Amino acid sequence: MRAIVLVGGFGTRLRPLTSDRPKQMLPVVDRPMIEHVVGHLAANGVDEVVLSLGFLPDAFREAYPDGACAGVPLHYAVEPEPLDTAGAIRFAAEDAGIDDTFLVLNGDVLTDLPFGELVEAHRATGAEGTISLTPVDDPSRYGVVPTDGLGRVLGFVEKPAPGEAPCNWINAGTYVLQPSVLDRIQSGRRVSVEREVFPAMAADGALFGYQSTAYWVDTGTPEAYLGVQLDLLDGVRGPSLPGVDVKATVDGADVNRSVVGPGAVVAAGARVVDSVVMAGASIGEGAVVEGSLVGSGATVGRDARLLELTVVGHGGAVEAGERLVATRRPDEG
Ligand code: GDD
Ligand code: MG
Repeated sequence: MRAIVLVGGFGTRLRPLTSDRPKQMLPVVDRPMIEHVVGHLAANGVDEVVLSLGFLPDAFREAYPDGACAGVPLHYAVEPEPLDTAGAIRFAAEDAGIDDTFLVLNGDVLTDLPFGELVEAHRATGAEGTISLTPVDDPSRYGVVPTDGLGRVLGFVEKPAPGEAPCNWINAGTYVLQPSVLDRIQSGRRVSVEREVFPAMAADGALFGYQSTAYWVDTGTPEAYLGVQLDLLDGVRGPSLPGVDVKATVDGADVNRSVVGPGAVVAAGARVVDSVVMAGASIGEGAVVEGSLVGSGATVGRDARLLELTVVGHGGAVEAGERLVATRRPDEG
């Protein structure tokens, strides 16, 4: 089976970390996010991945010049302009010549959902499309998907106002689709799968949902992007990963439940807890980084304090003694 992975978004909620690179190229502990996503597809029998690219496509081509990622051959489908989620699916499917049942993934989702189960459910109902669903506490950030007792989707409400969601099951961003779905998508313009295509398919009774409580996180916000990494350190998804890279320097520092990337230096007497310090960044003597994200090559001066989901962009600088609380530096809106 082939899978289209959508990786063309702007990653606005993760700025400034995504100002110069797509969010799927940001590291998740020891590898770029996309390698976690494609690795899971490979483990589930997917033998070709079509990367649906828009924003900064060269980042992927440069990282995987031989056209393979996590051992899986890649096909690059580069949109001439952002076509939104459904437009991107149609463009990528045509570009790769897909003419059989296929998978689609939001490329910023990390999950342990066994995709084979989703495909089986899809074949069992004979649906035109089947979407994976996951339960969340606050559905208002997501596409909300009520189903009947048989799994048939009754409606699709993208990002309802708080308190107005019909249920807590949301679109988990993994779909099995028949090629006929492509005919529902007008070509050459922006079309949203969530706002146009799925509501229309639901109205036709052609869309089914597959509910799963498997591990699932959309990494698109600083909180979630930090959280998935702490989960991997904590062993929430299997054996815990070491956070401090062998090429990082942390001698004499207090590093706790954190990721420290290759070439990063945490000076003696500094404290890093529940945080991510990316490749080549440096944390000065006596500085404190708590629950925060420090981009690659950034410098944090001595005795500075970064607290409560502060995000420092790649190459950013925090002066000695500065105190940043829930701050984005630089703040690019
Ligand atoms: N190629 C391409 N072109 N990709 C795009 C485009 C585009 O124009 N716009 C967005 N994407 C990609 C993003 O890179 C991301 O991987 C995926 O499509 C979803 O976009 P997000 O911006 O992350 O959407 P979201 O998180 O607000 O909501 C979506 O995901 C939720 C679950 O994670 C929706 O599908 C919701 O319904 C869903 O609940
Ligand atoms: Mg997302």
